[in-house]
Amino acid sequence: MRRKLVVGNWKMNGSGAANAALLSDLLEAHAQWRCEVAVCAPFPYLAQVSELLAGSPLAWGAQDCSANEPGAYTGEVAAAMLSEFGCRYAIVGHSERRALHGEGDQLVADKAKAALAHRLTPIVCVGETLAQREAGETASVVKRQLSAVIHTLAHCISEVVVAYEPVWAIGTGRTASPEQAQAVHALLRAQLQAATEKAGAMQILYGGSVKGDNAAALFAQADIDGGLIGGASLKAADFAAICRAAS
Ligand code: 13P
Repeated sequence: MRRKLVVGNWKMNGSGAANAALLSDLLEAHAQWRCEVAVCAPFPYLAQVSELLAGSPLAWGAQDCSANEPGAYTGEVAAAMLSEFGCRYAIVGHSERRALHGEGDQLVADKAKAALAHRLTPIVCVGETLAQREAGETASVVKRQLSAVIHTLAHCISEVVVAYEPVWAIGTGRTASPEQAQAVHALLRAQLQAATEKAGAMQILYGGSVKGDNAAALFAQADIDGGLIGGASLKAADFAAICRAAS
């Protein structure tokens, strides 16, 4: 049986004081949760998060990593550096990076490869825009995005976490219905099944306006193994409600 995983993606939010308050509330609440939980913080806060979560079952991760090994890449952060401090996850290919930083499918795949090479678990994001959904291209877009990662990682694909995040549902309050999300998750699972016999054990998360009141219905779907949470991961009560729904 797959364990549910709930990951908070703080995006470019937080402050020393806000992070400390949020994590202290999560540490108080986590005894009620039966799922795996992680938070992905901006790079400057990872040391703080690592310190505050030390010894707890809550994991932490980064929101990106370089596809390159350490060297002359100004502004980038190598997977090796994240790994050195006990980082567990790195989100790669988030739609905001694809759209705002021009990251293409192969770069995303190379980042996933660099993460795995340094024992980080990449959380590989895929998802279609509203225009692509309306043009009937959802399946072809997410398959193309995942296919680049499958080709680059070969049998190691079983070690990634996949996140389906329809771009039109991110930060809009417009969630994919459980049925819409499940349909895409089933398609992604089938694609993974063709690449690895371990596909049945892989976690496929849903992201896009997940809240305490819609999480349970999404997580009840056969191929939805948890969530990647943006806005609601910044408020302890909201994030805790989602973690309870996954438990
Ligand atoms: P929201 O939960 O704010 O819609 O963001 C989803 C997301 O992009 C998580 O990576």
